[in-house]
Amino acid sequence: MCEQELNKIKQEVENCSLCPLHKSRTMVVFGDGNPKGKIFLIGEGPGFEEDKSGKAFIGRSGQLLDKILLACNFNRNDHVYIGNIVKCRPPGNRTPSTEEQAACLPYLERQIELISPEIIVILGATALQALLGKNLKITKERGNWHIWFNRFVMPTYHPSALLRNPSLKKDAWEDFKKVILKYRELVDPDHRSPFVK
Ligand code: URA
Repeated sequence: MCEQELNKIKQEVENCSLCPLHKSRTMVVFGDGNPKGKIFLIGEGPGFEEDKSGKAFIGRSGQLLDKILLACNFNRNDHVYIGNIVKCRPPGNRTPSTEEQAACLPYLERQIELISPEIIVILGATALQALLGKNLKITKERGNWHIWFNRFVMPTYHPSALLRNPSLKKDAWEDFKKVILKYRELVDPDHRSPFVK
């Protein structure tokens, strides 16, 4: 049922021309992973590889994200769904404008409603500001649980920030450890990772 509804939204997005990003996209990147997963990861918008393939987070950032998920003993088939604030690639990977974000956000809100995750992980400043407030700083908000429409939300660094500045990885790992513990509390008391016993 949820998947049928998601497919309907996907078709709408594929025909969307609400903002200028539709003109330069190759493919819409709607979202990937398990729609029944209890963790929803939210990034900024598709990059080059994602635009070509229609799949979320498959370029360098995505490969790092998959490594982090593996360390948490989470994966896209079972535990997580992954989407973005905007579903079409901003040319040259620029930050999507406020208008582009606002045009696309209702699609993401409907995805969240259908998937109904227990935990949302916000990846980076753009998603943080789009969802929780435009003046918020990722350096300040990361690592702290926020409640947003009755869901637990953990902001952390975007994987591309970790690639640019590997010294941030330590903090990001602390944030993901909190996600593991929250998952254990809310979803599966037996969830273990190789690094969090
Ligand atoms: N960066 C994002 O924010 N999202 C993707 O899907 C890929 C890279």
